Amino acid sequence: TSLSLTSFDSSLVLPIVVERLKFCGQYEYFNAVLINEVDEEGNNVELGGEFILEPSDHFNNLSVNLSLSVVQVPTNMYNKDPDIVNGVYWSEALNKVFVDNFERDPTLIWQYFGSAKGFFRQYPGVKWHPDEHGVIGFDCRNRKWYIQAATSPKDVVILVDVSGSMKGLRLTIARQTVSSILDTLGDDDFFNIIAYNQEIHYVEPCLNGTLVRADRTNKDHFREHLDKLFAKGIGLLGDALTEAFMILSDFNQTGRGSVCSQAIMLVTDGATEMYDDVFEKYNWPERKVRLFPYLIGRESAFADNLKWMACANKGYFSQISTLADVQENVMRYLHVMSRPKVIDHEHDTVWTEAYVDSALNDKSGPTLTTTVAMPVFSTKNETNQGILLGVVGTDIPLQELMKLIPKHMLGIHGYAFAITNNGYILIHPDLRPLVTHFLSITFTPEHSHSIP
Ligand SMILES: *[C@@H]1O[C@H](CO)[C@@H](O)[C@H](O)[C@H]1NC(C)=O
Ligand SMILES: *[C@@H]1O[C@H](CO)[C@@H](O)[C@H](O)[C@H]1NC(C)=O
Ligand SMILES: *[C@@H]1O[C@H](CO)[C@@H](O)[C@H](O)[C@H]1NC(C)=O
Ligand SMILES: *[C@@H]1O[C@H](CO)[C@@H](O)[C@H](O)[C@H]1NC(C)=O
Ligand SMILES: *[C@@H]1O[C@H](CO)[C@@H](O)[C@H](O)[C@H]1NC(C)=O
Repeated sequence: TSLSLTSFDSSLVLPIVVERLKFCGQYEYFNAVLINEVDEEGNNVELGGEFILEPSDHFNNLSVNLSLSVVQVPTNMYNKDPDIVNGVYWSEALNKVFVDNFERDPTLIWQYFGSAKGFFRQYPGVKWHPDEHGVIGFDCRNRKWYIQAATSPKDVVILVDVSGSMKGLRLTIARQTVSSILDTLGDDDFFNIIAYNQEIHYVEPCLNGTLVRADRTNKDHFREHLDKLFAKGIGLLGDALTEAFMILSDFNQTGRGSVCSQAIMLVTDGATEMYDDVFEKYNWPERKVRLFPYLIGRESAFADNLKWMACANKGYFSQISTLADVQENVMRYLHVMSRPKVIDHEHDTVWTEAYVDSALNDKSGPTLTTTVAMPVFSTKNETNQGILLGVVGTDIPLQELMKLIPKHMLGIHGYAFAITNNGYILIHPDLRPLVTHFLSITFTPEHSHSIP
């Protein structure tokens, strides 16, 4: 931001060095959805338990528990998965950190840790309610603050195979895979999507030969075009790869993109060749562009070529056989893309654009908020590259930032504003969310906690 926030104490969100503990036996945690739920006989449900909640003035009279955090696990994941339970277990140490932070700075609101495994630990503890379908769609790893903090800005070309063999379920999975990749891109990233068979089709023909910013409008626009893809003909991957390398290189030359981090995501049901001639021409020996192949379908006859291509271009191979596998497999590339940050010990804080915190609307209208976040890495030695454990973050009401503005220095008609590095207004005296009619806010809340 263009303001220097001298009184913001960044140690509040400093990464916590965490050691993975051996976990054995039964371990229960407070699940944000299950707390205070009882079964037909009146017993607490598993992972529920009695959790005392009291209305707090500071949280707009929302019922919270100021001594403990709660854990949310996305509906599509198993809430007793050993990886999740293990992570929830070691991250329990955060309770004390959250409480201490809040004591030190009573203006703090939500503090949280979003794990790379998918769970979300939030302080203060609060009950979450699923939507009318019984689902909680919230996955912290898709949130802007998470992606911005976990990865460096990147330029991404997504290649989708639309040759005849992709008909039916494969194409459905491929669309979902592309859509999940889009979820992992944020305002700092640039992208384009190319479908290929014997020809190359830009999914949005107007954006032939370039990359666009991965903001919400552009991503939604491309998603609409994905439905129009259909499978026929034969796939000429070599031409598609060539096109991808060329637009990445051209785009880098414009100096508009990320400069350091470029990737090609390849969504296909197989490659009959290794295309070393293409890589030789465009990517070797520096291997500046990483290649992430996603093999769609159950067959693994063509896996070897794709694995080789991933290794030869510093990427990561994944196979996606069912729709349920899509998200977890797509997320894995984020670990690889965050490695440069781990190696350089980059613990940059990131700030999101202003958004409405739907949980904290008060009588004077919606509360505008920003999130400040920072990645957390394991410093264990056995993986000399380090592992991304997740992202810590805290929400900051913009009123708190406004209070830091030194009014006496501005003069009578002076005012201060701040914009983010992406050109979004963060604070401005006239910044207001657009309320089209009663309680319908056109801004999508960043968190969409399903809290009434
Ligand atoms: C938070 O909940 C726990 C478990 O129910 C309870 O022991 C504790 O007293 C609660 N804390 C507050 C501040 O209400
Ligand atoms: C919270 O509730 C109390 C009593 O019900 C009320 O006096 C107070 O104004 C409320 N605070 C907010 C922020 O709504
Ligand atoms: C992109 O545009 C150029 C001319 O502007 C055209 O020659 C080329 O065929 C187009 N490519 C695709 C894949 O549409
Ligand atoms: C992009 O261009 C810059 C400057 O010319 C160069 O240093 C950098 O390595 C290029 N990045 C990629 C991914 O090619
Ligand atoms: C990690 O490795 C460094 C140097 O190789 C060593 O100094 C340090 O003590 C090691 N840390 C742990 C926790 O083993």
